[in-house]
Amino acid sequence: MQSSSAKNILAISGSLRAGSSNHAILNYLGKIAPAGTSYTIYDGLSQIPHFDPGLDNDNPPETVTAFRKLTAEADGLIICTPEYAYGVPGTLKNALDWTVSSGSLSEKPLALITASTGGENAHAALLLILTALNAKVAKDTTVLISFIRSKMDGNGDITDGETVKGLMKAFKAFFSSL
Ligand SMILES: Cc1cc2nc3c(=O)[nH]c(=O)nc-3n(C[C@H](O)[C@H](O)[C@H](O)COP(=O)(O)O)c2cc1C
Repeated sequence: MQSSSAKNILAISGSLRAGSSNHAILNYLGKIAPAGTSYTIYDGLSQIPHFDPGLDNDNPPETVTAFRKLTAEADGLIICTPEYAYGVPGTLKNALDWTVSSGSLSEKPLALITASTGGENAHAALLLILTALNAKVAKDTTVLISFIRSKMDGNGDITDGETVKGLMKAFKAFFSSL
């Protein structure tokens, strides 16, 4: 990929699982990011308290302030997530709920990858949620990868050529949108 001016990217995995395929995808994208990119995979999702409008005031929980700051400072975000019980993983939805009032995703370029067994429902639901948050999700930067576990090996390397191609295309479109 061609290098452009250095960007600050925040990547969020919707899976907390050790050995997560979504985490592996984010690792892969970090490796193919243009030279000079600051690429951070956020690892604090499980530390964000349950969303409570009563705590959503001038002095919110520290982890929420830190998360909002990271999102606000990023030039763009990548969310990569599985689907659970036909929906968006609760920890991810919880974190996103905290950004409603801060507006930290508003106008923020965002790529959405749903990598799951099926994933259609979470993918559609997230696109709707991101609309509510006013994130800038360009069409070419959304990817749904079904049967993800059959497209990776035990080391977390993507073994399916079409999946690699789709990810590279979306990633390139994402950087063009920054
Ligand atoms: C409790 C639970 C519920 C799940 N429900 C769904 C589902 O509704 N749709 C789907 O596509 N996959 C579902 N899955 C399968 C996950 O998509 C699959 O385990 C995926 O690999 C998880 O992502 P990860 O590898 O990044 O952890 C579910 C898995 C678990 C553990």
